[in-house]
Amino acid sequence: MDQNELKKQVGQEAVKYIKDGMIVGLGTGSTVRYMVDALGARVQNEKLNIVGVTTSLRTTKQAQDLGITIKDIDEVDHIDLTIDGADEIDDNFQGIKGGGGAHLWEKIVATNSNKIMWIVDESKMVHQLGAFPLPVEVIPFGSQHVFDELKKRGYKPEFRLTNGNKFLTDQKNYVIDLHLERIGDPFALADELIKMVGVVEHGFFLDMVNTVIVGRESGPEILQARD
Ligand code: 5RP
Repeated sequence: MDQNELKKQVGQEAVKYIKDGMIVGLGTGSTVRYMVDALGARVQNEKLNIVGVTTSLRTTKQAQDLGITIKDIDEVDHIDLTIDGADEIDDNFQGIKGGGGAHLWEKIVATNSNKIMWIVDESKMVHQLGAFPLPVEVIPFGSQHVFDELKKRGYKPEFRLTNGNKFLTDQKNYVIDLHLERIGDPFALADELIKMVGVVEHGFFLDMVNTVIVGRESGPEILQARD
């Protein structure tokens, strides 16, 4: 089974957790894409009555095209369950997200969710975070100074680019990826980064996830992180 098949497997498994009447947070990324496809099919076939709250313009477009009702996060008073992808998950269920540059909106949706589920293929499960570059979203104004400071601290920063231009998030900010390789203390680094003026959000998602579905050759594995 290739990686895409594993992503599809977990996407299809995850929608089984969505019940009629729920308000569901819809993440971003290639794995979530499969999940939203499967959710769209349930909405069509079973006349499932759900509301989606999206974490990116990409997901909004896909969901609406499939006939899923979408509300803005500020139009709902709660979110029952958010299903999202992840870039790395360590042995303690701490995660790095933001490979798609959507981690700011993803974190806002996750923070306002009663339950959080991540869906990943098995390559995302790691013993220690850091091989995947840690995304840091910064406002454009003064961002070179934030970059220089990150460099001075030895965090190997790199502005994320698309077609030679600085990548813009849906919030019209830049992303600086930190090539750290191994992160000893994610909590300390998260704290340090969020205190830097100009940093809007980093890609650490710590003590957040409740359930992880891992795509494996043998079938989806369901892991309970916390209640
Ligand atoms: C986007 C994210 C994604 O969920 C993460 O990058 C995983 O993406 P994919 O499912 O394509 O591997 O955090 O900001």
